[in-house]
Amino acid sequence: MADLSTNYVGLQLHNPIIVASCSLVNTVEGVQQCADAGAGAVVLKSLFEEQLEADTKALQQNVWLAGHAEAFDYVRNMGIELGSQDYLKLVEGAKKKLSIPVIASLNCITPTWWTDYAKRIEHAGADALELNIAVLPSNTNRTSNEIEHLYCDILEAVKQSVKIPIAVKIGPYFTSIARMAHELCNRGASALVLFNRFYQLDINIETLALVPGYRLSSREEMSLSLRWISLLAGRVKCDLAATTGVHDGIGVIKQLLAGATAVQVCSTLYLNGVKYIETILTQLGEWMDQHTFGSINQIKGKLSQVESDRPEFYERLQYIKALVGIE
Ligand SMILES: Cc1cc2nc3c(=O)[nH]c(=O)nc-3n(C[C@H](O)[C@H](O)[C@H](O)COP(=O)(O)O)c2cc1C
Repeated sequence: MADLSTNYVGLQLHNPIIVASCSLVNTVEGVQQCADAGAGAVVLKSLFEEQLEADTKALQQNVWLAGHAEAFDYVRNMGIELGSQDYLKLVEGAKKKLSIPVIASLNCITPTWWTDYAKRIEHAGADALELNIAVLPSNTNRTSNEIEHLYCDILEAVKQSVKIPIAVKIGPYFTSIARMAHELCNRGASALVLFNRFYQLDINIETLALVPGYRLSSREEMSLSLRWISLLAGRVKCDLAATTGVHDGIGVIKQLLAGATAVQVCSTLYLNGVKYIETILTQLGEWMDQHTFGSINQIKGKLSQVESDRPEFYERLQYIKALVGIE
């Protein structure tokens, strides 16, 4: 039987399947179910920056703060304290019950709120932190340079306050993803989680209202992270975890071959139930046995660009034949 263990952000995982941050893992019971089904690790549901900010604002309305910087700091800390309580309990509870690594998740859009709070999460026992940095570049005055610096500033602010490893989950919308990935790893990210799938926006044409789009991914969406993991593996100094569109063992195998160290799953667990992790692991193990791979390291990055004798193939963007009208 193949050895499925892998080392992700310095943590020993008994297999590469990580339950991605989502509502399935926002209670200790939910996390326990994932562990029972065989998950190698879990990323808890994110605590959102807006949650901390909202707590603080509610407090500020009751306290006269004008001109009192110290009072503002006091209230802000209280807000962080209050907002964090439930989350800290979740981290502590999950750690107490489970033997698999528990990764806490913070959804950040500025560096302002997180330094104290990240420390508390570390003290609560989280094995690692995942920063889900999601800045929508909708401001016409904000340059791409400013936005990219913001990602690095958030990472550095948190990095300075904790010792546990930090993974950074990003979306694909950068002009130079390779450069951004390189920069985040240089500034201390232990892993990049590629790619976040953002909240989808839709419009109801009868009610003329904005409505949420479909929440779950399709397996076709995996090709974006597959491309970038295969291009970045071996080129950046940190681990790569795949997320978005991995729905089964086949998807996991492809991402490992491309160069992922671990693979996060979410939508497939909503569609098939948390126990589907067992099926994914069986598919992975059987495939490894059939192909006589004894360990994850033997597969990892086998089909990455750096390992390829046809590197140009990975960078093809256009359908050449279709373009010249031959097809
Ligand atoms: C209901 C739901 C809640 C989610 N909540 C979070 C969250 O709090 N933080 C986060 O980083 N990602 C969150 N995600 C995104 C997932 O972690 C994952 O990156 C995304 O669903 C793509 O992976 P998938 O194709 O396996 O679903 C959520 C996804 C779903 C469906």
